[in-house]
Amino acid sequence: MKIKSAEFVISNSSVAKCPTTKIPEYAFIGRSNVGKSSLINALVGRKSLAKTSGRPGKTQLINHFIINKEWFLVDLPGYGYARVSKSNKKTFQKFITNYFNEREQLVSAFVLVDSRHEPQKIDLEFMEWLATNGIPFTIIFTKSDKLNKTSLPKNIEDYKNKMLEMWEEMPPYLVTSSASKTGCKEVLDYIGKLNEDVEPQPFLK
Ligand code: GTP
Ligand code: MG
Repeated sequence: MKIKSAEFVISNSSVAKCPTTKIPEYAFIGRSNVGKSSLINALVGRKSLAKTSGRPGKTQLINHFIINKEWFLVDLPGYGYARVSKSNKKTFQKFITNYFNEREQLVSAFVLVDSRHEPQKIDLEFMEWLATNGIPFTIIFTKSDKLNKTSLPKNIEDYKNKMLEMWEEMPPYLVTSSASKTGCKEVLDYIGKLNEDVEPQPFLK
């Protein structure tokens, strides 16, 4: 899929205030610092459309970007950020779970995991929660540029084996790097295919 345009639409802290436009939507979720915002920028070929930072906890709101005037990419805050207080964590969890439970336009979530790390409990539990709530998702391994040719396939194989302890089969997955642009074309083509399968939804009056 070719990117013809990518524009920021709105940031907010409540799913109720998200755009009401009935177009397909894809949301990036995962641990803080995993590379969600960077991947959005790499996909659309823009340096700072989504705000990124070396420090975890940069993205704090639900951010909608409209791509090719046809579909939304959504940058979400990360979970698992240790320095957030308990009450903040709860509020945050609520707004993220509300987003996933209520956002009818969502075609698929993309759960980003760092390809360098072994499967993390928080990610495995989040994927389990998505499945229990009937929310389709695809795994995106990030930062693949940081691994060599032997470690990358080994880590992915280990991840698969861990997933297969819980899942009948490995959910769909893609391997990416925002730094080297590895996998960006694949992610866009994957979204392009999903877009083709989305039934046009009637507009509310
Ligand atoms: P939060 O908004 O805090 O949840 O983080 P995020 O998941 O949006 O991460 P972000 O895109 O801000 O990136 C975090 C850090 O990882 C930044 O320093 C990025 O430069 C770096 N980073 C992201 N993707 C890659 C990648 O593919 N390769 C390398 N080498 N670094 C990356
Ligand atoms: Mg971010």
